[in-house]
Amino acid sequence: MAVGRAVSGAGEDGMASDGGLRDPKEAAPEGSMEVLELFPRYLLKGTLPDALLSQLQAMASAVIADPDSHPDAAPKLAGQLSLQRELGPQQPAAAELCSTVILPACEHWIRHVIDRQPPQGRGPWTPGRYGLQMIDLWLNVQHGGDYNPTHTHGGSFSGVLYLKVPPQIRSDSFDGQLCLHGPEEWHIQSFRTGMAHYLLPRAGDYYVFPAWQPHSVAPFRGEGERWSIAFNVVAVPAAARSATPAPLQVSEGRGALPPLAPQPAANVSLSNSRPRPGGFG
Ligand SMILES: [Fe+2]
Repeated sequence: MAVGRAVSGAGEDGMASDGGLRDPKEAAPEGSMEVLELFPRYLLKGTLPDALLSQLQAMASAVIADPDSHPDAAPKLAGQLSLQRELGPQQPAAAELCSTVILPACEHWIRHVIDRQPPQGRGPWTPGRYGLQMIDLWLNVQHGGDYNPTHTHGGSFSGVLYLKVPPQIRSDSFDGQLCLHGPEEWHIQSFRTGMAHYLLPRAGDYYVFPAWQPHSVAPFRGEGERWSIAFNVVAVPAAARSATPAPLQVSEGRGALPPLAPQPAANVSLSNSRPRPGGFG
């Protein structure tokens, strides 16, 4: 937590008693003061096991080589990308990704965030009272000039993992970076800072964030391809689970839950063909 330097000797309007701007060096602090950060946002970052990253890269290569073998996800998505294809649990690497990485990561996010809430403010997100369902999973292939405008997703959690990143995407440029947007426009002149957070994609890294978190991807220049897999997950309170759509994969929130009712054959379900909460974005 940052600690501010005291400034005193003037009224609350920041003016000296004679009406001029005061010299901060004249400040004579008494007592103490500090700057508090309010309303945090939580972003989970992880790294894929090398073996799973290799499997996912091979899966992506196969999809790119035969894109018509997978449903086109682009009509449901905001991105202006060269290729976006739905993935499903029939692909072993995708199934392993869901069960060993994404759903546990969402569970980790819930426990990290909810366990810090007051006991009476946790609502349905106490262990054993909810389930997690993967509802959308898709591959993004971005070429130079492609971009993803600011958007949000359906469901409860969304995120992305990176499979391949061209070398010209670096931290010294916005090109190709994932940007998470705050609630206001960034404006340094009026100290409205901290409203944009850039994440440099690296093969093997992944991120999980609430589906309502606005984000965008800047275009990059030059050769190469930027590959990523994105997803939507819903967290479903136990009482509402019977009304939810067929999941791609299911994970129980920590603790014992009765088994889910039998579900139809799992596959990617699109947001216009199932009740809310919808997926994609
Ligand atoms: Fe997105």
